[in-house]
Amino acid sequence: MPDKTLKILVIQGPNLNLLGQRESLIYGSETLETVHAALEKRSGPLQTSLSFFQSNHEGAIIDRIQAAKKDGVDGILINAGALTHTSIGLRDVLAGTAIPFVEVHISNVHAREEFRHHSYLSAIAAGIVVGFGTAGYDLGLEGLVRHLRRPKS
Ligand code: DQA
Repeated sequence: MPDKTLKILVIQGPNLNLLGQRESLIYGSETLETVHAALEKRSGPLQTSLSFFQSNHEGAIIDRIQAAKKDGVDGILINAGALTHTSIGLRDVLAGTAIPFVEVHISNVHAREEFRHHSYLSAIAAGIVVGFGTAGYDLGLEGLVRHLRRPKS
């Protein structure tokens, strides 16, 4: 039987709309549009249907995750940006909806300022991809799909 198409929501948090214009030594020169176009290319072979959401607002991201639960989204790929280090509300909605998710960071947050070393999300993530630049989104999508399709006993 062919695998079912998985509905994946890609969430980009605060300031990721500025990718390519912002601190390019840390985040590179690719734009968010380019990153999403590359993910779309991977989406067919992985049998996923992707939707994308970027917001600079914590509440809007929480609302979107609640809506994803109602829409039957199978998995979330999320770079929560700075909210990673601050938002208990974001953790609570991810825990409460129990949608499996992979946390992505473009930079190696552990090699940066101490305030970036803690994530409210990591302990409940299916997996984490950190420090591989924008390739982390591809790796994260692949990891998320493998996680969702893993044999369950
Ligand atoms: C980031 C790392 C965060 O600490 C930062 O606030 C971001 C981007 C990353 O992708 O490396 O906005 O999530």
